[in-house]
Amino acid sequence: MSDRIILGTAKFGINNYGFSSSGYQASHVDIFDLAYKYGVRALDTSPRYNNAENLIGDYHKKSKNVFKVSTKVDNLEPESFESEKKIYNSVLESIKRTGVNCIDTLYLHQNEMGIISDTKIINALKNIKNDGFVKKIGVSIYNNEECKFSLDSDIYDVIQLPVSVLDSFMYSELIHSSTTNKKIIARSIFLQGVLFNRDLIKSKVKQSENMLNYISKLDQLALEHKVELFMLACSYVLSLPKVNGIIVGTAVKENLLSIIESSKFKITSDLMDQIYQLSSEYKEWGNPRKW
Ligand SMILES: NC(=O)c1ccc[n+]([C@@H]2O[C@H](COP(=O)([O-])OP(=O)(O)OC[C@H]3O[C@@H](n4cnc5c(N)ncnc54)[C@H](OP(=O)(O)O)[C@@H]3O)[C@@H](O)[C@H]2O)c1
Repeated sequence: MSDRIILGTAKFGINNYGFSSSGYQASHVDIFDLAYKYGVRALDTSPRYNNAENLIGDYHKKSKNVFKVSTKVDNLEPESFESEKKIYNSVLESIKRTGVNCIDTLYLHQNEMGIISDTKIINALKNIKNDGFVKKIGVSIYNNEECKFSLDSDIYDVIQLPVSVLDSFMYSELIHSSTTNKKIIARSIFLQGVLFNRDLIKSKVKQSENMLNYISKLDQLALEHKVELFMLACSYVLSLPKVNGIIVGTAVKENLLSIIESSKFKITSDLMDQIYQLSSEYKEWGNPRKW
């Protein structure tokens, strides 16, 4: 199961990223070592995460462990003749910084339609893949329009989107019944950690009342079925038939081990259906940009 877990690295480059637990925040070296020991072989990073790519490169220099690295390209502009140069420079720099031979999935870090549908950008992405610098091309999306476009487009091999017990609206609307053979990668499976760090919801989320009401329904389900909510949060996403992998972000060793352990948990189809029904409803607070 760990081969479907991808370790996110935003936290290692951006100290105050997301909602953290009270656990000891370990170094990237300790977390990478532990992840590797338990079968995690893939990292998700971005030049936008400060020095995260350099940390991966330092790790690769000092360790015999080698991770597959997926990263992103950022700061592109629509209809720009500079796009090809920017994409090549960005990828070559990412390869150098992270110490890998090629990038596993290169995502566009910008999700806007004007970027993901731009012909000049798309042609450059095709070229860099043909040249062997990246294996797959991906998008990291936030809404249904972007998701629909990415599903229909020939260029994208991988679609990364938020999916969780809190919110699987986009997944249920567009991916669940699609016949796509693209790789579907779920991110923010704890909605940036909000699910397990609830004391911060009132001060950080505009729609806190709705969010807390919803979470209490999940608590109730977990109680009825005698399963920890944490287990449900991990196994629900991994049990969705179209989800190929999950990105998890933690800097706490115990939390990483719990995620790996929980990913083995088999959720019953009855409970799966109940969570699916709840999480498939549209929620404005499902997108952290609206908090
Ligand atoms: N547009 C994009 O491309 C995009 C956007 C967002 C994220 N991402 C990627 O996805 C990764 C994860 O993103 P995310 O932060 O949104 O993901 P998330 O997995 O929903 O939440 C991560 C947060 O959950 C906390 N957490 C984990 N286990 C916990 C536990 N047992 N109890 C309490 N808190 C716990 C972590 O804190 P601790 O460190 O304390 O465990 C961390 O702050 C990022 O690193 C990045 O690689 C990509």
